[in-house]
Amino acid sequence: MKATVEERVEALLSAMTLAEKVGQMTLAEKNSIRPGDTARFALGGVLSGGGGYPIPNTPRSWADMVAGFQDEALATRLRIPILYGVDAVHGHAAVEGATVFPHNCGLGAAGDPDLVYRIARATAVEMAATGIFWNYAPTVAVPHDLRWGRTYECFGADPDLVSRLGVAYVRGLQGTDLASPTSVLATPKHFVGDGAARWGTSTTVMQGRRFLIDQGDADLDEAALRSIHLRPYRAAIGSGARCIMVSFSSWHGVKMHAHRRLLTDVLKGELGFRGFLVSDWGGIDQLPGDYHAQVVAAINAGLDMIMVPYDYRRFGETALQAVRAGDVPLARVDDAVRRILNAKLARGLFDHPLPQRDLLAEVGCREHRALAREAVRRSLCLLKNAGALPLPKDVPLVLVAGEAADDLGIQCGGWTIEWQGKKGPIVPGTTIRAGIENVLGPARVAFDPNGRFAGVGRAPVGIVVLGEEPYAEGFGDKPDLVLTEEEISLVRSVRAMVDRLVLVVVAGRPYVLGEAYDLADAVVAAWLPGSEGAGVADVLFGDTPFEGRLPFPWPQSSSYLTRPEAEPPLFPPGFGPARG
Ligand code: GLC
Repeated sequence: MKATVEERVEALLSAMTLAEKVGQMTLAEKNSIRPGDTARFALGGVLSGGGGYPIPNTPRSWADMVAGFQDEALATRLRIPILYGVDAVHGHAAVEGATVFPHNCGLGAAGDPDLVYRIARATAVEMAATGIFWNYAPTVAVPHDLRWGRTYECFGADPDLVSRLGVAYVRGLQGTDLASPTSVLATPKHFVGDGAARWGTSTTVMQGRRFLIDQGDADLDEAALRSIHLRPYRAAIGSGARCIMVSFSSWHGVKMHAHRRLLTDVLKGELGFRGFLVSDWGGIDQLPGDYHAQVVAAINAGLDMIMVPYDYRRFGETALQAVRAGDVPLARVDDAVRRILNAKLARGLFDHPLPQRDLLAEVGCREHRALAREAVRRSLCLLKNAGALPLPKDVPLVLVAGEAADDLGIQCGGWTIEWQGKKGPIVPGTTIRAGIENVLGPARVAFDPNGRFAGVGRAPVGIVVLGEEPYAEGFGDKPDLVLTEEEISLVRSVRAMVDRLVLVVVAGRPYVLGEAYDLADAVVAAWLPGSEGAGVADVLFGDTPFEGRLPFPWPQSSSYLTRPEAEPPLFPPGFGPARG
């Protein structure tokens, strides 16, 4: 009779030394780990933070890198495998050649749980090929301020939509059999109320940059916290999530990483969460007191695995001292280790801990790219159409302007190869311009990023694509979401040359469009479409209809951003075609 997961957990736990238990609670960043230390400290987890790719950055070298850490772990006394984690938040997008799907804001616009399930499943397969069975996704935040740099990581402003798509994502990652070789542990994040922080309350300074709202403080009442921000976690727990990441943010001045009532009494007690809680990147360092006090507060609050992420030796020594001093009860450590081991055993990690190399050919495969292109098509939101769309395929000439029309880095956004993303040909794929040329042929497309078409003369159609520069987290906190004077003058200049003007906005959140909206005959929100930009042309030229519905309100002026109660949005959340 095969031992149950619980029996195997208890057998391991009773055999573990205190040092091995503390090791299991330790999550270290892969560049910080000295050779042999994965085994020496019996680390429970290793991660690649944003941009944590091997050189060369290929699926195979990812598999080799991850297998190196895993082999060390499997050579330890108790052969407990590590969980290797990464932020595959829109496909396994840290890996060159992986399929880069639209960010969650676009998936929220498409609003289809089945589509999200299929995307998460495809992401899991590409991750399993590289031996990574733990995804720090989905973000299930409900953003209330569009100026937040993580708005694009969110499915939308409606907690029910976020819950539905969050559940689909968890189920897609974990698959129908959590113990299967292509199952990946989901990590709904960031618990709780990261999207409720108020503007100007962040105290985080990173790389010399002061964050403005990211990691800030939320002051809403408990009823609102529960009805809006807790709701997606109830749903995610119900869908089988085995790990939840805790937020950097705070609620009424208390950091989530030390919020015992919410982490233990509410999440683990009232909601019955049986998985494990992982801290965010150095999140415990933001707690009051010295390091000893921070470690004690975090673990006693209910954190089970600590994303240190650098000095894992110091964390281990401090945690050992804390237990020996009686500051952290051994029972709390045992509970943490039980939760971690339970997740690893339930995932089948002891049975298949290594990369599924036979799946390496699936990374960036045609089918996944076709799925991504479908998602791009279905994410597009039509904000205006004065008879301009769909465009005729026999149009003799189209002027295409705007840097964002021909830049894969811009259309992918943050968390793509690099943590912050990067402009330029950062991944293989198709730009919006390439998609238009695929439809018309290059001879009928004139492209200039600055809208300079000297000698071209008038054209029947002009398409201006405006985009955000890639960013992630607080680096994207932006006081105002308005177009620059340069962007508006680009729209003006192309307007003067064409009969029909289409404006496409490539951004992770709505922008105040002002005069550009009035000048255009059609306006399309394309969000952050990822590697398959050709999906935009599919809809502009009528192959498929617009079906996207706004996941967020679309502001008509800047004052809406600071005082949404003072004026209605230009378009409310949900704006878009009725769905059958
Ligand atoms: C980051 C993010 C979190 C991510 C983690 C690991 O700071 O807040 O979403 O999962 O670190 O990269």
